[in-house]
Amino acid sequence: MTVKKVGVVGAGTMGSGIATNIAQHGYPVHIVDVGASQVEGALAKARVFYQRQAERGRMSAAEAAAAGDRLRGGTELDALGGCDLVIEAVFEQLDIKAELYGRLIPRLAPGCLVATNTSCLQVGALARSVDRPERFLGMHYFNPPSVNPVVEVVRGEKTAPSAIDAALAFCTATEKMPVLCRDSSGFALNRFFCPYINEAVRIYDDGIATPFEVDRVACDVLGAAAGPFVVINLVGSRVVLHAQSNLAALGGFYAPAESVVRVGEQAGSWEIGDPSPPDAARDKAVADRLMGATFLALLQELDEEVAAPADIDLGARHAFKFGKPPCGLMDALGRKEVERMLRPFCETYGAAVPRSLSRVGQLAARG
Ligand SMILES: NC(=O)c1ccc[n+]([C@@H]2O[C@H](COP(=O)([O-])OP(=O)(O)OC[C@H]3O[C@@H](n4cnc5c(N)ncnc54)[C@H](O)[C@@H]3O)[C@@H](O)[C@H]2O)c1
Repeated sequence: MTVKKVGVVGAGTMGSGIATNIAQHGYPVHIVDVGASQVEGALAKARVFYQRQAERGRMSAAEAAAAGDRLRGGTELDALGGCDLVIEAVFEQLDIKAELYGRLIPRLAPGCLVATNTSCLQVGALARSVDRPERFLGMHYFNPPSVNPVVEVVRGEKTAPSAIDAALAFCTATEKMPVLCRDSSGFALNRFFCPYINEAVRIYDDGIATPFEVDRVACDVLGAAAGPFVVINLVGSRVVLHAQSNLAALGGFYAPAESVVRVGEQAGSWEIGDPSPPDAARDKAVADRLMGATFLALLQELDEEVAAPADIDLGARHAFKFGKPPCGLMDALGRKEVERMLRPFCETYGAAVPRSLSRVGQLAARG
């Protein structure tokens, strides 16, 4: 199937940015929200975005005006009857999303795809409130969706292959890099990125290094554009707590760090602290823990066949700005070195050494 017209439900942070991206790439988009002011705000934000793109020479003034014209909105779901794809980006609550689907889906054409932008709910759990689960999938955009180039395309248990193919093609047509993954907690990317952030905070909680020192090591060893504490301040400590708590059922290793809970519950920010000189022994301990935590989560994910290593590295490079994406980094370090970093975590948290450790050395090559 080919997508020609798109609907977006929810005109908040994500829905407005998703609609902005899609209209920019030539598709008529209709955005619906319960609040008329949210719709007006989203349309105005999109026009400002296109205007800035034009000022920066990324689109012509005529293209900016045309993109603005393609974007319409209102409060009525009936307006979505002619869409081929509807992306849902309402509040992150199962009952709210399920109630919405109950009203939305009877108004859609039979072949229309419905995608949820959920971060933490299972696509399978949401699919239970949809009468055509084969047309239902996850399309998880990253914030800010108007510019972040990555979208996780999440295959629910009942999602039809043709629906996945259409979503992948649609991502490419809107200049997004799709990361195809299974419906599993944290999907492909937050599954290892959250434990990496969480471990950074555990290192601080253990009195080993300051946020500045942890961030500096992270930027060095993973080639991260910004260290984990700067990232927490950017995305919000409450969001970080929510995302980590979503993984907690996977075992003790995934439980939120003490200060992830403390700072997150207060929606606080981190003091990054003053620069301090490098210390070889401390920095090595920090590096081992940051990489060990990232690698453990990632290898467990590979054991569970959540996503392919090449897709994971693509996402890490472009969604999180890791200059040294983790599968390629493990290959470069080699199996023995990765195992040395993993072992302390397996012992502390009673986790088995992941089977995928045996693939280290050829992860990136196999794709
Ligand atoms: N904010 C992020 O960083 C981020 C990143 C990726 C995914 N997500 C996911 O995207 C979704 C939306 O998040 P957000 O941050 O944009 O939220 P938000 O609070 O900014 O916006 C949600 C919008 O949905 C509207 N809404 C609520 N119920 C509705 C209904 N029944 N019908 C129509 N509109 C309704 C609200 O009025 C609001 O404008 C969530 O599932 C969230 O988990 C968020």
